[in-house]
Amino acid sequence: MQTEADRRTLAALLDWYREMGVDTAVADAPIDWLARGDAPPGQAFRLPEQENKAVPEAPPRAPLSRDGERPSPPPRIAPRAPAPQPSLEPRPGFAATPPDAAEIAARRIARDAPDLEALETALRAFDGCGLKATAKNLCFYRGAPRARLMIIGEAPGREEDLEGRPFVGRAGQLLDKMLAAIALKEEDVHITNVVYWRPPGNRTPTPQESQVCRPFLERQMELVEPEVVLLLGGAAAKQVLDTTDGIMRIRGKWREIQSSGRTVRTMATLHPAYLLRTPAAKRQAWRDLLAVQAALEKS
Ligand code: URA
Repeated sequence: MQTEADRRTLAALLDWYREMGVDTAVADAPIDWLARGDAPPGQAFRLPEQENKAVPEAPPRAPLSRDGERPSPPPRIAPRAPAPQPSLEPRPGFAATPPDAAEIAARRIARDAPDLEALETALRAFDGCGLKATAKNLCFYRGAPRARLMIIGEAPGREEDLEGRPFVGRAGQLLDKMLAAIALKEEDVHITNVVYWRPPGNRTPTPQESQVCRPFLERQMELVEPEVVLLLGGAAAKQVLDTTDGIMRIRGKWREIQSSGRTVRTMATLHPAYLLRTPAAKRQAWRDLLAVQAALEKS
């Protein structure tokens, strides 16, 4: 029988979970990843050709409990094979981080996608990004499949995760208003993010998560063929422009990036979520938007 004190303790515990960013149930019962002893979500990824090589067998998976019981622990924790280090010519800007198996696979899979539909199908089947394990939906893009302006944000949030489309929450509504102010509608632009799944608790994606998604983003840009790319916020700017400079330093400046042999003009601006918290900064974002509008009118 539950007492009032029990109920208060339970409510306090739920509040604490919410504050820690745990606001979505991903299974009917909690999973004790430590008790399972095998790889955490997204880390068990291996290239198909490595499947039959002499990698030590992973321990058998403990059955997932559906009735709330703790899953039985695996017999023992087998040592994990060292991460494969295949040779791959370094990409400019990413030499410091050795590409891992997931990124190599992502590059191969993304390159083979002839169109956006195939790229989305490939992303749905891709298990190399750990974010997929906790997200409800893939958020690929919204807007036009081909567009003169491509907009790249950081990562889907709660609303986006529920709907499976980028920028549909409050920040997205502000983004739509910003676009309307320069006479653009959803059908005129292609909107996406650096990562395609919501990070738990809306945290910033890790460099590894962004990097694993990057081959898909690069292929997406090749297929969309934008003339101008607008980067929303520091995380998108850092990832696409390969810089460690903060957003306040890089915003409002044109940079050129290469996409499949084409030069694409790129500008970073302030993220709409930041503008919601800091309305005084809208003036700077407005200046950046006018520069984007002028660039689209000229080209
Ligand atoms: N913020 C982002 O960066 N992307 C979204 O899709 C939503 C909010």
